[in-house]
Amino acid sequence: MRNQRWQAIGTSGLSDFRLVDYDAPVPGPDQIRVTVTAAGVNPADLKHVARATSFPLPIGYEIAGVVDAVGPGAIGGSGPLAVGDRVVAFRIHGGYATTATIPADTAFVLPDSVDDVTAAGLLLAGTTAADMLNRTRVAAGDTIVVHGASGAVGVTLLQLAARDEVRVVGTSSPERLGAVTRFGATAVPYGDGLLDRLRDVATDPVAALDLTGTDEAIDASVALVEDRTRIITAANKAAASEHGLVAVAGLDPESAAYRDAMRGPLLGLVAAGELTVPVAGTFPVADAVDALGLVASGRAGGKVVLTVGP
Ligand SMILES: NC(=O)c1ccc[n+]([C@@H]2O[C@H](COP(=O)([O-])OP(=O)(O)OC[C@H]3O[C@@H](n4cnc5c(N)ncnc54)[C@H](OP(=O)(O)O)[C@@H]3O)[C@@H](O)[C@H]2O)c1
Repeated sequence: MRNQRWQAIGTSGLSDFRLVDYDAPVPGPDQIRVTVTAAGVNPADLKHVARATSFPLPIGYEIAGVVDAVGPGAIGGSGPLAVGDRVVAFRIHGGYATTATIPADTAFVLPDSVDDVTAAGLLLAGTTAADMLNRTRVAAGDTIVVHGASGAVGVTLLQLAARDEVRVVGTSSPERLGAVTRFGATAVPYGDGLLDRLRDVATDPVAALDLTGTDEAIDASVALVEDRTRIITAANKAAASEHGLVAVAGLDPESAAYRDAMRGPLLGLVAAGELTVPVAGTFPVADAVDALGLVASGRAGGKVVLTVGP
């Protein structure tokens, strides 16, 4: 198999994505090289290209794979690494690839109980969910509203909230209510009349988390939650500025530090069978544009992961 990776050559979207021949460099100090087996697909893979200023831009923030070279002094996020170790890595650049040279401290040794596809789909969505929940300052017995609870970030949020005994009312499409109730939350369909439906079941919510960016989600959140610092959006920065809400972003230093610290614990929960990553489907890495197109539609119905290799 040829060594290849996906990169964007401009800001026009998926039409600017190219699969090119690429040999990942020999790892330098504090780096490792990984033979990629699976790569997580996230809305950010496309959104960030639209805002980029430097091209070509390698695509993909999270992978699973096998270490094939270790640079001088390289230590993984979970300790020493050796050639042949199975790893998961997040926050990296250039994950849509057959091989990737990455900072060693982004890589964590994969327990045998965690398969590569699950691992590759875990950490971007999982650490975002943990960060957002942390920002709400909730306690056991509180009720929160989660808009977009059936998505990749949403279902992780539901599971983390349940562990903290926080009650969740979560929105989804009518077809995907089961993805919300599966994790113990009360499910409410989004769309016309959302605020009334939420009022019927969400008694005194202390916080609202938005993963949709829609006006109806923002308006309902503002109507239901008095303290605007407890309305957190991952998908509508403009609305956050307009209404005095909190917008989270992975590069914000507070979020970056918290999310990085949560990689190991989240992996531990999956290894222990206490956290599930519902995978909607896998695509060969050569079909990354189709995979990302599906994810960007907002209707993938779970995590989408690229697979690499035979
Ligand atoms: N700021 C950050 O750090 C950060 C990090 C990660 C993700 N994000 C953002 O968070 C959002 C969710 O990410 P994700 O990976 O969870 O995406 P996802 O898996 O595609 O989930 C999308 C969610 O939005 C819902 N949805 C789709 N169309 C909708 C509509 N018209 N009205 C209301 N809800 C709708 C979906 O529900 P149904 O499937 O039931 O229709 C699903 O629950 C994305 O915008 C992503 O860019 C931000």
